[in-house]
Amino acid sequence: MDQIRIIGGTPLRGTITISGAKNAALPLLTAALLSNEALELTNIPDLADIKSMIDLLEQHGLTVSRDLEAKKVTLNAQAINNTTAPYDIVRKMRASILVLGPLVARCGEARVSLPGGCSIGTRPVDIHLRGLEELGAKIELKDGYINAEAPNGLRGATITMPIVSVTATENLMMAATLAKGTTKLINAAREPEIVDLANCLRSMGANIQGDGTDTITIEGVSKLHKATHRVIADRIETGTFAIAAAITGGELYLKDTSIDLLPSFISSLQKAGVIIEAGQDGFWVKSSAQPIAGVDIMTEPYPGFATDLQAQMMALMTVCQGASMMTETIFENRFMHVPELCRMGANITVHGSSALVRGVSQLRGAPVMATDLRASVSLVLAGLAAEGETILSRVYHLDRGYEHIETKLRQCGAHIERIKEKEALAA
Ligand code: UD1
Repeated sequence: MDQIRIIGGTPLRGTITISGAKNAALPLLTAALLSNEALELTNIPDLADIKSMIDLLEQHGLTVSRDLEAKKVTLNAQAINNTTAPYDIVRKMRASILVLGPLVARCGEARVSLPGGCSIGTRPVDIHLRGLEELGAKIELKDGYINAEAPNGLRGATITMPIVSVTATENLMMAATLAKGTTKLINAAREPEIVDLANCLRSMGANIQGDGTDTITIEGVSKLHKATHRVIADRIETGTFAIAAAITGGELYLKDTSIDLLPSFISSLQKAGVIIEAGQDGFWVKSSAQPIAGVDIMTEPYPGFATDLQAQMMALMTVCQGASMMTETIFENRFMHVPELCRMGANITVHGSSALVRGVSQLRGAPVMATDLRASVSLVLAGLAAEGETILSRVYHLDRGYEHIETKLRQCGAHIERIKEKEALAA
């Protein structure tokens, strides 16, 4: 397996162009299942998860053409010839569950492998299933698979979701576009990726209102048509590079993104003493002469502080002046990066769902191991700030969600390189 080698201590300076959002692109790709006409998506990032989703859609019978250079994918679901999402693909990527709603709505049936738990928690899919049942689907769990059937089509319903779930909201919103009558999703997720999906579905002919609030109303239509849609900027990548600027004492311009995508995160960075200035097509992140101040963080559904930025913020807090209490409320096991950060000299104590981070004056490079996508990037950030060499193993996690990360960081002065598997074995 590849490794990443970082020599820390260089303040990053320059411009980083932010890619299209992975978590917007994944549901948008599955939206193609809803129509027998083509869906063209632009600003699609080059990531392992996108490749997995395209593989999944191709085995459902979609024709997919991809232009990596132009970041464009065109999907055509005229002939869906297989409604099963197999274990082999679903186990690699939980977001595969996003084919469930569109398949049942369009084909009247779907068989999707149960995703199972993952390193950050048990992550059930009960809200997706209960919602589809309320839309009239018959659901049965058998042999590790979800069997869903609605031979006479779905019908609109009022669905109150007990917990705010991003992908459940997306699955049900997509399914409801082709249901007969009106669907109301109550306690819906409000993430920018939901609004992006709703915008795309509207350009395909769907009738959706209220996206971006906690109540989404969908008036079912009989058919969706062809459309072209540009994926929004990745707010998690944006936040990650903002921290790269702050933790190295540097100055970065983050291009093709917006402060408005991360209200709570930006205000936490400002409280920590980081200077944020809006630009024409992005924003500046500048370190101040003062040391980073400790800020308390609690993860929450949007517009609260994103759980997907918790590990990165913790990396920043390891070098703060004072202390920071970081509380994780979304996933039960999302502190896997803590022991690795401690190996680099951080002072962190975990009590249940909270971590007390006492700032240290300097991190030291060390061999560390990635455990999940966001944990691994927090170790890259710590490595950029640390004295000496950090070697990060299991970087395939990183490749799931960060497009060309070494190149982007190197262009701004970071000493970071990928050691290919053969070289790593020989070393
Ligand atoms: C999405 C994001 C992920 C992010 C997460 C929270 C994608 C592809 N992934 O994941 O990067 O970390 O939102 O912002 O967009 N839950 C249930 N039952 C369900 C569904 C969820 O109990 O049926 C619970 C989960 O275990 C979790 C909470 O609800 O505790 C929120 O999870 P959810 O918003 O569903 O996360 P994902 O949509 O899987």
